Formats: sequence, structure tokens, C-alpha cells
Amino acid sequence: MEYGTQFARPEERGERVILDVRDLLKQFDQSDEVITAVNRVTMKVYEGEFIAIVGASGSGKSTLLHLLAGLDRPNAGSIFIRGQDITAMNPDELGAFRGDYIGMVFQSHNLIPQFTALENILIPTMMRNKSELSYEENLRKLVASLGIADRLHHLPSELSGGQQQRVAIARALINLPHIVFADEPTGNLDRANADEVLDLLLETKRMIGQTLIMVTHDMTIANRADRIFTMEDGRLTLTKGHH
Ligand SMILES: Nc1ncnc2c1ncn2[C@@H]1O[C@H](COP(=O)(O)OP(=O)(O)OP(=O)(O)O)[C@@H](O)[C@H]1O
Ligand SMILES: [Mg+2]
Repeated sequence: MEYGTQFARPEERGERVILDVRDLLKQFDQSDEVITAVNRVTMKVYEGEFIAIVGASGSGKSTLLHLLAGLDRPNAGSIFIRGQDITAMNPDELGAFRGDYIGMVFQSHNLIPQFTALENILIPTMMRNKSELSYEENLRKLVASLGIADRLHHLPSELSGGQQQRVAIARALINLPHIVFADEPTGNLDRANADEVLDLLLETKRMIGQTLIMVTHDMTIANRADRIFTMEDGRLTLTKGHH
């Protein structure tokens, strides 16, 4: 029997699962109540996909992204990246795994104020195992296409908000990670700059077959994703694309 390829699910097209999240739960204890920020989230992401996550403020998007990137630990559930359960790793294993495979753009770009732009960009190169890989060529390409080549020796406080965002993106991409988590990477950019930064992320993604998972409130950007998930009160549902 033959199936129309346009209706085939990624799995049926032979694509590989890069991220497999099962029944993920994250709760925060407040003084008199428990907040369930991520409520039993299950999702699969295929290699090379661009996934957008949208949802109201406080719905749990950043908390979910931090769990997936191994920056925070869930109360229950598992997160398999390239077949390895990152929730079962000890801090050293997780740190090395993140350095090798994961890139993260934070909602508040989290640059270290005492470090120059260049020093901030190079932080992940100190964490990885792939020390045989040189980053110079990638650095040159990234700072050129991000338009920050002449800002590298400035401190974050000497850069505009948009430039700080670009430094944070260069830092996330410097190790050529297999999977990039980006939390509102275009949040404080105007339309033209937001589109430009997304084009750059998609260009890098295309070059190295990267998987991109992005939180955004910008529907123009979300609509360019392969699939859109919506977060509501800690629950994640697919709102555009195939299961
Ligand atoms: N460290 C924490 N301690 C206690 N509560 C937290 C913590 N981090 C997040 N929360 C709570 O978890 C819920 C989800 O927060 P989160 O930051 O994930 O939302 P968000 O969807 O990213 O929102 P926004 O769009 O405003 O960035 C909120 O109710 C928030 O107050
Ligand atoms: Mg957030």
C-alpha cells in the first residue's frame, strides 16, 4: 500500500527523533502553595525540525526550555536527547553533554557583565569535550553575519539591547550544537532585526542540520516553524503540524 508522502509523519519518512520528552513535571514550592509550572509534558522532536512554542506569560515556557536544556531538574519524567536520558546524568556528565550538543539563548540574555562580548561568546568552548574542534572559523562567520565583528571587545553594558541579543546568539551557536533552545531570541528586536536574526538562525540550522526549539510570542516567526506547540497552564499541545 502506498501513502502520499506529504501526509507522512516525520518518523515514517525515516527521520530520527533527537528529543523525546516523557511525562515531564516541574513544580515550585511557594510559601502556601505548589505551582505546577510544567504539567506532564510529552513531546517528540525530529532531527532538523524548527519547533515554535507559544503561550501566555507564566504558562511555563521558560521553565520547560530550561529543563530540556539540562539547566534545571524535573520532579518527574525523562528527557532523551540523541537517545540519552539527560535527567539520569550527574552534573559533570550533564555539563559535558551540554557543551557538546546543546545551545541555549536565554530570555534575558544572561551575558556576564565583566566579560567582553568575545569572552562571553567563547564561554561554551571551555565546557565541551570536542576540544579537537577549532571554533575560529565559526566565530568569524557568526560575528560577521550577526554584524557584531566590531563590537567584540566591548562590555555588554556598552552594547545596545539588540547587539547583546546577537552576542547571546553567537554564544549559543559557537560550538555548532545539534540542538538549540532559544527563549524569545527576538524579544527585544524590532521587526526588521527580528526577521534578520531568525534568518540567521535558520541559515545556521540548514548548514549543520541543527534542530531549533524556540519560544516566541511573535506569530510571524512562529508561523515559519515546522510545528507550533502551545503552552497553557503548564500543559503543552500541538497546535500546528503533524503529531
Ligand atoms: N524559580 C521559580 N520559583 C518559583 N516559581 C517559579 C520559578 N520559575 C518560574 N516560576 C513560576 O512558574 C510559572 C511559569 O513560569 P515561566 O517563567 O516558565 O513562564 P513563561 O511562560 O516563560 O512566561 P513569560 O512569557 O512571561 O516569560 C510561573 O507561575 C512562575 O511564577
Ligand atoms: Mg519566559
